[in-house]
Amino acid sequence: MNPLNHVAIIMDGNGRWGLKNKNSRNAGHRAGINTVEKIIKETIRNNIKFLTLYAFSTENWKRPKKEIKFLFNLLENFLKNKIEDLNKQKIKLKIIGKKNFSTKLNKLLKTSEKKTHKNKKLQINLALNYGSKTELINAFKELKKKREIINEKNFKKYLQTKNIPDPEILIRTGNTKRLSNFLLWQLAYSEIFFEKKLWPDFNEKDYSKIIKKYKNIKRNFGKI
Ligand code: IPE
Ligand code: IPE
Ligand code: MG
Repeated sequence: MNPLNHVAIIMDGNGRWGLKNKNSRNAGHRAGINTVEKIIKETIRNNIKFLTLYAFSTENWKRPKKEIKFLFNLLENFLKNKIEDLNKQKIKLKIIGKKNFSTKLNKLLKTSEKKTHKNKKLQINLALNYGSKTELINAFKELKKKREIINEKNFKKYLQTKNIPDPEILIRTGNTKRLSNFLLWQLAYSEIFFEKKLWPDFNEKDYSKIIKKYKNIKRNFGKI
């Protein structure tokens, strides 16, 4: 059975779910929070140590201001209400992506990371204002600045996922088959699962099925 340390998820389909069920994209974003909580629980139940959630991409700034504002309010409320609970569950929160939001949100993100940084049960990497191309370019810049030899080992030190094993599984919900600038380096050898369901409809059972399927895949890594 394949080992499993890290699951990465592109949580897609909130907007469509909201429009279909409540006539509002934002209602879909709100509903998506429940799925996040379900998936965190199931990740812990499976003793998986890293969960990376794509919540806002560098490209998502192209959305209407009102939707962006709603998303960040939602995040703020989620953290305010849940950080104590996450901490009690021994969850470590790490933000990947550039924290250039309002002063208030930047502060809340930093204090949430600080509060939970010693926790060892599960590390959640929340990708916020994250874009893989920016991450890669920054890593190259660092290598150049430090005049280090360009090799895999040195390069990885400057990725935002430094010290985190690459995801064995990538899940994208929402019936779309693309990576949308997510973890391009880290996903080089991941098993990819594209899910038809929209994120608010995705549940523990769907997740468990994927995990079970993954465990029995023959992973070659170039060998036979
Ligand atoms: C993903 O859901 C969440 C974010 C990008 C914030 P979408 O909002 O992209 O939902 P669809 O794809 O429009 O349905
Ligand atoms: C990817 O979803 C980003 C997140 C889930 C945060 P998008 O809905 O933004 O991706 P595209 O634009 O359809 O590729
Ligand atoms: Mg989308």
